[in-house]
Amino acid sequence: MRIDVMTLFPDFIAQAAAVGVVGRAQERGLLSLHGWNPRDYASGGYRRVDDRPFGGGPGMVMMVEPLLACLTAVRGADPAPAPVIYMSPQGAPLTQKKARELAALPRMILLCGRYEGVDERFLKAHVDEELSIGDYVLSGGELAAAVVIDAVGRLQDGALNDADSAVQDSFEGDGLLDCPHFTHPSSHPLGDVPAVLRSGDHAAIARWRRQQSLGRTARRRPDLLDEGSLSKADKALLTAFRDQETGEGGAG
Ligand code: ADE
Repeated sequence: MRIDVMTLFPDFIAQAAAVGVVGRAQERGLLSLHGWNPRDYASGGYRRVDDRPFGGGPGMVMMVEPLLACLTAVRGADPAPAPVIYMSPQGAPLTQKKARELAALPRMILLCGRYEGVDERFLKAHVDEELSIGDYVLSGGELAAAVVIDAVGRLQDGALNDADSAVQDSFEGDGLLDCPHFTHPSSHPLGDVPAVLRSGDHAAIARWRRQQSLGRTARRRPDLLDEGSLSKADKALLTAFRDQETGEGGAG
């Protein structure tokens, strides 16, 4: 997949995507990331990209012309069709489902705003969708774009070493939170690893993990769980989880 990012800080995007799984995806040729700076397409000695808002008020607004010239260059660099996605707190929330949809595209163009925002005429004419990474305001779209690149980059086929590990993630498949994980040592002053995980009984382990996912989701993110539509087996696992919790004094 190819991702083009229109940003006044292309170095930041490159660095954020250089490490870990996404860095490896780039090295493996699964993801190609290209930064484009609208300032390089601005005219005049000052290469101005922003101006005062009509109607007055604080802050500056990113101007149409440098963005238009920049987008023309971005489109010209590759013929593959690509939606333009503007990172904005007013956008649709980024979800794992959305990340999967984007990951299946051949290409996308991310637009990062700075200052008070982008001239509405550019957004109306050239932006296909707006995406938000949460209900808070960042000082620019770069951190949000880096989040999208990470969520989408790790889903490229071959990016994760264990193909299963994306399927087990929180929000994948049935939308439940992930179960807890443990590694060596099995015994430690902070506690012992649950015996079932060391039992070698794969069916029992799968059941325990399912139960933990259900229980955690019910406790931490009840908004993600439609208890009425759970299978009988899942309902029984959840009831047992709750009984155990009560038995332990409700902790966990
Ligand atoms: N730009 C500023 N705040 C943002 C947010 N919450 N999500 C996406 N882009 C943003």
